[in-house]
Formats: sequence, structure tokens, C-alpha cells
Amino acid sequence: MAISISLKVNGAPISASVEPGTLLVQFLRDQLRLTGTHVGCDTAQCGACTVHLDGRAIKSCNILAAQADGTQVTTIEGLAKDGALHPMQAAFKHCHGLQCGFCTPGMVMSAISLVTRQPDLTDDDVRAQLDGNLCRCTGYHNIVKAVLEGAEGMKSSGAGSATASAATGTTPSATAQATA
Ligand code: FES
Ligand code: FES
Repeated sequence: MAISISLKVNGAPISASVEPGTLLVQFLRDQLRLTGTHVGCDTAQCGACTVHLDGRAIKSCNILAAQADGTQVTTIEGLAKDGALHPMQAAFKHCHGLQCGFCTPGMVMSAISLVTRQPDLTDDDVRAQLDGNLCRCTGYHNIVKAVLEGAEGMKSSGAGSATASAATGTTPSATAQATA
């Protein structure tokens, strides 16, 4: 039997009906059409599905949509503000911290959560703390550079958690809400 849930996604209130076994990542991608959150494995190892749940990075393939009832979820689509990239997104672009880009949304979401918890980071900290995000293109050198530059950008811009910045963030499309 379907379950009714209400939550905020990228600052927008959403009410939807989900099957009990629907994963949060399936809900985001298939019902809300927020396809920037990727699925790269079925073992909760790759981190491509990382989003923020109440300000903390979580793997959205590892929880049910029903468990997100009453929470605030931020996806990669909710980071840019008034057409300007979040400092961490800008750093990934500037440092070319990506190759194919498949892992990038999850990397960015994990990196923002990391910097929010630990603003002062070393190269080794980034490598250790982001070990739950895998890049199949193995371009880790530039990813680490991007996270360090993004951390500086977040400090100088005062960007805190993505949940806060998403308060005025992307609203899922009318189509998405209609299918929710
Ligand atoms: S798809 Fe969630 S960890 Fe790989
Ligand atoms: S850039 Fe291709 S998987 Fe990371």
C-alpha cells in the first residue's frame, strides 16, 4: 500500500505518495525528475547518490523515501543560487575536478558536508574523508584540489550547509510535482 510523505526538496514543499520499498534515490530521480543524483552501484559503496538530509550527507540509495518524511533534502540541483554556482561547484569547474562527471554530484554534496563539519582541511583529510565517494575515472588529484579550493570559497562567501542555501533553491518542475 502506498505511503503519503511530505518533505522539503531544495526548499520546495513536496507531498507525494510512495511505495513502501521506494528508495529515496528512486523517489528523487523517478518521481521528482531530479536526475542529477546518480546511481552508480547497488551496494551503497560508490557515493554517486549522495544528497543532504537535514544538512548531512547521506547515500540516498541506502534509505527509503518513507524515511525522509518530514525532512529537508538538498540535491545537486538545489545548490546554485540566483544563477551562481555554489562555491564548491565553482571550484570543481575551476580545478577541472571531473572527467566524465558521473561521480561529480555526489562528490560535491559530500565535499560540502565535509567542509561544513571541518572547515580547515589538508589534502590527506580530503582523501580520507571522501573515501565513500568513488571516481571510476580515477581523477582524484584534481578532485582533492577542487575540494580544498571549494573549502576556501565557502569560508570567504560564508556558504554554510547546502540545506541553508537551498531555502531559496531550485523548485522541482511542475511536471515533477504532478507525477509526485
Ligand atoms: S548508488 Fe548509492 S552508493 Fe552507489
Ligand atoms: S569523473 Fe568519471 S566517474 Fe568520476
